[in-house]
Amino acid sequence: MERDFPKIEYKFIGNTGEKVSEIGLGTYGITDYKKGEEAFAYAIERGIDLIDTAEIYNTEDFVGRIIKRFGREKLFIITKVWPKNIVSKDSTIKAAKGSLTRLGTSYVDLILIHWPHRTMSIKEQVKNIEAVQKGGLSRFIGVSNFSVDQLEEARHSTASTEIVCNQVKYNLDERGIENDVLPYCTDNGLSVIAYTPISKGEASGDPVFRDVVNRSGKTAIQVSLNFLLSHKEVIPIPKTEKLEHMREIMGSLGWKLDEREFALLSKK
Ligand SMILES: NC(=O)c1ccc[n+]([C@@H]2O[C@H](COP(=O)([O-])OP(=O)(O)OC[C@H]3O[C@@H](n4cnc5c(N)ncnc54)[C@H](OP(=O)(O)O)[C@@H]3O)[C@@H](O)[C@H]2O)c1
Repeated sequence: MERDFPKIEYKFIGNTGEKVSEIGLGTYGITDYKKGEEAFAYAIERGIDLIDTAEIYNTEDFVGRIIKRFGREKLFIITKVWPKNIVSKDSTIKAAKGSLTRLGTSYVDLILIHWPHRTMSIKEQVKNIEAVQKGGLSRFIGVSNFSVDQLEEARHSTASTEIVCNQVKYNLDERGIENDVLPYCTDNGLSVIAYTPISKGEASGDPVFRDVVNRSGKTAIQVSLNFLLSHKEVIPIPKTEKLEHMREIMGSLGWKLDEREFALLSKK
């Protein structure tokens, strides 16, 4: 390990009192498991402990291999239940058990409703995901792709636990959550787990962004990720299965945009 590798920071997950690494590892679309494992090992050996998967990603087996290699207690594992399985308590628990079998573990740390089911009430969906936690299959519960109204309803539908996060799309080109979901989560102690956080679109051509990148001595991806994680409740989960890309991602840690640069990017 490089001796001078910057110390990474850890952030609270909701109001759980527990912390996870300030970025996590996305897994959607990983196809080369061998290379992927090498890239993940690089990050985990440097302190990253959060891994995101889902029952529909076809990567729970891959994550299982990582768990086996690094040890269950060293990692914070998120998985998700697809809407068609959230329809009853039994089907939700069955889906969670399927995930656990593929992951080779008896529990995940956090299980999410992947997308709100279109026709079922939020209350019922939350009751079903809460049953997974009550059964000891997940330590915490959360949601993904929920609007503020849906979040509000979800938070008031739990019987004996709290929704700890909303996992939503957030990158420098797609900043809609800054208007509603982000402030709502800040005010109510929820983590925002930012998916598709690597901005490779319009922002890269924006002169203000270019200027910040040029002066920072960092790459566009590093500046984009650093901007996201400057928000205290935001935890980006970039996906890569390539070691050189993971190195670049890890280079977004251990430094901060100065106030002026952050303000310039905030205005966009
Ligand atoms: N809750 C949801 O509904 C939802 C939806 C989408 C995603 N997610 C989660 O969020 C994770 C991340 O989102 P995402 O996969 O959509 O997008 P992303 O992480 O923003 O981007 C992934 C893409 O960027 C490439 N990449 C990574 N590092 C790079 C680098 N340093 N230079 C150039 N290219 C690089 C990856 O290719 P290489 O692998 O070749 O590097 C991949 O094509 C997913 O894996 C998944 O776990 C959740």
